[in-house]
Amino acid sequence: MTATTLGAVLTEAEKTLTDAGAWLPREDAEQLAAHVMGCTVAQLPLDAVPGAEDLARLRDLVAQRADRVPVEYLTGRAVLGGVEIAVGPGVFVPRKHTEPLLAWGLDVLHGVSRPLAVDLCTGSAAIALAVAHARPDSTVHAIELDPVALSWARRNVARQAELGDTPVALHAGDVTDPAMFAELDGTVDLLLANPPFVVDGVVLPPEWQEHQPWSALFGGQDGLVVIRAVVAAAVRLLRRGGGVAIEHDDEQAEVIMSLLREQGAFTDISYGVDHWGTPRYTTARRK
Ligand SMILES: C[S@@+](CC[C@H](N)C(=O)[O-])C[C@H]1O[C@@H](n2cnc3c(N)ncnc32)[C@H](O)[C@@H]1O
Repeated sequence: MTATTLGAVLTEAEKTLTDAGAWLPREDAEQLAAHVMGCTVAQLPLDAVPGAEDLARLRDLVAQRADRVPVEYLTGRAVLGGVEIAVGPGVFVPRKHTEPLLAWGLDVLHGVSRPLAVDLCTGSAAIALAVAHARPDSTVHAIELDPVALSWARRNVARQAELGDTPVALHAGDVTDPAMFAELDGTVDLLLANPPFVVDGVVLPPEWQEHQPWSALFGGQDGLVVIRAVVAAAVRLLRRGGGVAIEHDDEQAEVIMSLLREQGAFTDISYGVDHWGTPRYTTARRK
């Protein structure tokens, strides 16, 4: 009998993941194989026959992915703004959809020396760390309510500081607290937030519904409970000309632009799209 090559194992894994409803079955299988073999996807030795131990590990990971565990929980890593972020059960997985919000925020900081930025609802601290990485001269404060998410954030903040990035100041706290970061009122150049925004009761794909913390996802009966608090915080915290960007779902841009307009405190109210061309974040500048 011919021994099974890695290429054949990946074809089998791709079929398993397709049948399970994973939407990037080939990419997921390759990422898991690269994780097991300690190489990049481009370096995968497709014609080689994997050792028994690697094969067993890979098949176990594919089975978990077929149960729709996020691939990032299985590899233990996600990437935002070129920064590698450790993730696992209990923390929201940073998404590629957030890259344009991050890019918009970094644009706002262009030409601002020693900027002050805040990341509300920081989760793993991905956005805050990406800002600090891109702008070593910045001061970045990040806030998170959930203690498990905070433990992932602490780990990521410590690792990036060890790697030489400007340390992020991490805070345990509630974004809906009207006194949050009161000491920064009127001084912040950039406020970024990817808050929970899903309407309560919506059923999400299993990667979120079954495996990620609901407190990271659901934003009340209209999905806007935390978003309203973020808007109020932006009025208070931003300096004149400072920028705010809030991530949201495909259909919330209009309502969030209205929330910003109602404040009478913002100009340049607009929205941006993600890599799918879908409205994904709403932006404004403080008058
Ligand atoms: C969608 S996740 C985003 C995490 C991270 N910013 C990212 O983009 O990967 C939302 C995060 O907000 C946190 N959160 C929810 N309600 C909060 C609140 N009232 N105050 C602070 N953090 C909150 C959740 O625990 C979760 O980590």
